[in-house]
Amino acid sequence: HDMFTFDPGFMATASCESKITYIDGDQGILLYRGIPIEQLAEKSNFLEVSYLLVNGELPTAQQLGEFSHAVQYHTMINESLLRFFNGFQYNAHPMAMLSGVVASMAAFYHDSMDINNPRHREIFAHRVIAKIPTIAAAAYKHSLGQPFVYPRNDLDYCSNLLHMFFAVPCEQYSVDPVAAQALDLLFILHADHEQNASTSTVRMAGSTGTNPYAAISSGISALWGPAHGGANEAVLAMLEQIGTVENVPKYLAKAKDKNDHFRLMGFGHRVYKNFDPRATIIRTMCHKVLAKLGKSDNPLFELALKLEEIALKDEYFVERKLYPNVDFYSGIIYSAIGIPQSMFTVMFAIARSVGWVAHWQEMIADPAMKISRPRQIYTGPAQRDYMEMSDRG
Ligand code: CMC
Repeated sequence: HDMFTFDPGFMATASCESKITYIDGDQGILLYRGIPIEQLAEKSNFLEVSYLLVNGELPTAQQLGEFSHAVQYHTMINESLLRFFNGFQYNAHPMAMLSGVVASMAAFYHDSMDINNPRHREIFAHRVIAKIPTIAAAAYKHSLGQPFVYPRNDLDYCSNLLHMFFAVPCEQYSVDPVAAQALDLLFILHADHEQNASTSTVRMAGSTGTNPYAAISSGISALWGPAHGGANEAVLAMLEQIGTVENVPKYLAKAKDKNDHFRLMGFGHRVYKNFDPRATIIRTMCHKVLAKLGKSDNPLFELALKLEEIALKDEYFVERKLYPNVDFYSGIIYSAIGIPQSMFTVMFAIARSVGWVAHWQEMIADPAMKISRPRQIYTGPAQRDYMEMSDRG
């Protein structure tokens, strides 16, 4: 027993070395490849951030052009892959469809997937970044019973996503640039967050040498949970449940009650013990986006602001250093641009798939890479003999 350090939840164990993302949880600092998230949020766009995360440096104009072209080249999915959706009931959770269909990419795109071949790894990165939005949109269309909408490569990344989500063959549809810009910013903020549960899952699965599409699918499954990416969906459900400001004290009391499973969704973080810098950016953005969309009087946003204000003054939350996290306000923006609640975590998955790819690439190229194989502290019975059934009580 003494041979191993007991560290449930990996609170104090570094599982790898990484050059991708830096977090200082006490000071609320988040850097992608050394660059502050605030600067990227203000000046960059999601595809450029994707290049940065995957390749380590900001691209030149030519590099970005080539990267965008490579991603666009792969936006369509195999037609047979589309038929997969017919096997799902219309009300299947989109995260279940996403993880299933992304795992099936291992079957469709195995032709060029030798994990020891750097060019194959590059094509894998392009395919994931290009095809996950198409698969996500197909999942949404399936849930509505609407025809699938093919990607449009003349549109930027997020405009294309909105087009695939909301266009229908019988009507003219033009993407609202405010919505596309808001989505792009949210995607930048969600693109990576070092060794969170889903990224660690991708690394762990990938460390066995499995097909990387299968590893990405395992990341999607890990992200789905309400303690992780599923929190954005849960926040909106919670705000709807709370309903009005008058009910806030009642729900705060529930969140503090250890006999009650209710938690304040969108609050608290394993690493941030000060504010979550992403939440700060999103809160400001929420004001702007709602104003631009003419939805400033959004009652859920008003409620969220009030809830934050009251919780941040409450001793319980102060003592435990519980602040709003990235998911607290993101759902309000998704809603305002017309994304349904059940698709919020899928949005998170699209953005985070870039981080998963970057981490998988880093791990596979690392000569020190070993299969992930944690040890345990055994607490079961000592050795004993098999008892015949006739002797069992
Ligand atoms: N509401 C009420 N109490 C909370 C909350 C909350 N949201 N979060 C933590 N606590 C309490 C917890 O009960 C514990 O209290 P005590 O010390 O008295 O037992 C203390 O704060 C420490 O919490 P913990 O669960 O030990 O902390 P953790 O690092 O294991 O969990 C967390 C982090 C994010 C899972 C947790 O804060 C949580 O469940 N938050 C709500 C879900 C959420 O918003 N998740 C999104 C995280 S950010 C984006 C992402 O990762 O996808």
